[in-house]
Amino acid sequence: MKNYINQLPKAELHLHIEGTFEPDLMFEIAKRNEIKIPFNSVAEIEKAYQFNCLQDFLDIYYQGAGVLIHEADFYDLTYSYLKKCADQNIRHTEIMFDPQTHTERGISFETVINGISAACKDAKNKLGVTSLLIMSYLRHLSEESAFKTLEQSIPFKDKITAVGLDSSEKGNPPSKFKNVFEASVNAGYIPLAHAGEEGDADYIWEALDILKIKRIDHGNNALQDPKLVQEIIQRDIALTVCPLSNTALQVVTNLKDHPLKKMIALGLKVTINSDDPAYFGGQLNQNYIEIQKALNLSKKDLYLLAKNSFQYALLDRGLKEKYLLELEKFYEENK
Ligand code: HPA
Ligand code: ZN
Repeated sequence: MKNYINQLPKAELHLHIEGTFEPDLMFEIAKRNEIKIPFNSVAEIEKAYQFNCLQDFLDIYYQGAGVLIHEADFYDLTYSYLKKCADQNIRHTEIMFDPQTHTERGISFETVINGISAACKDAKNKLGVTSLLIMSYLRHLSEESAFKTLEQSIPFKDKITAVGLDSSEKGNPPSKFKNVFEASVNAGYIPLAHAGEEGDADYIWEALDILKIKRIDHGNNALQDPKLVQEIIQRDIALTVCPLSNTALQVVTNLKDHPLKKMIALGLKVTINSDDPAYFGGQLNQNYIEIQKALNLSKKDLYLLAKNSFQYALLDRGLKEKYLLELEKFYEENK
């Protein structure tokens, strides 16, 4: 199964670029920027990456992102992840980035977007990996701050496909961002949001009804409410599920108790994703490998998960068809 998973053509739909920051690269960039980080070794970093909840993780994640200063830093971070995509047969990836994590520290929006998008362009040409960008608003900050970010993004809007909503969920409901999501849609961005990771089902309702999202990041707590499950199915909206993130942040106690199979059985469209692979113990293929083992997923289950990843990508029709055909061929030839 490991080989099968490694070779399976797939897309990643839930990935924070700041969450791909591997310790080696963090040390290298911290050194060249002459920034002190509170760790002296990879072992010390690994020890710090023990989380009890989302907030525990976010505190460390924002600290790590603090060493990113120059366009070249954002380029290196992004290209390093895209190389891993090529190695894992990830054909397409939809990358979230958090502008406010950087603009709040005095780094310009332009620096961030130019570094990330240059790496995406090079990866398409050199590695054949396609990608698009999701600009995520930090929900612990104000709607006014999100509006400022939206404004800053406008000169670069041809480089951005969608908006997202991430960071501390509890106490920061989707309704807080009603107006900025409306303005974002008017600017041409597709609305997406994290919902139901730690927040309850009513946050998912808000994200659907108030923010009008087209995909749900996580969405685990949809299972609290059968009516909501039916609504998600009826609207044909996918969940971007992140198994190793769920155990790392104790959203799920044990992978064997992960609700993925239940979600599929109910008729929900589910995809597998890594979220913040440098922090949660595994890249995308490791997420597939571990969830396959824990839930005894079949080749057909894996194929259907990969199929959803292309089907619910924000790709244009032509490219989507091309990837789906490749996947179909792989499935038929490896039964
Ligand atoms: N949830 C919320 N915010 C985040 C996450 C997540 O899983 N990863 C990075 N920012
Ligand atoms: Zn996430």
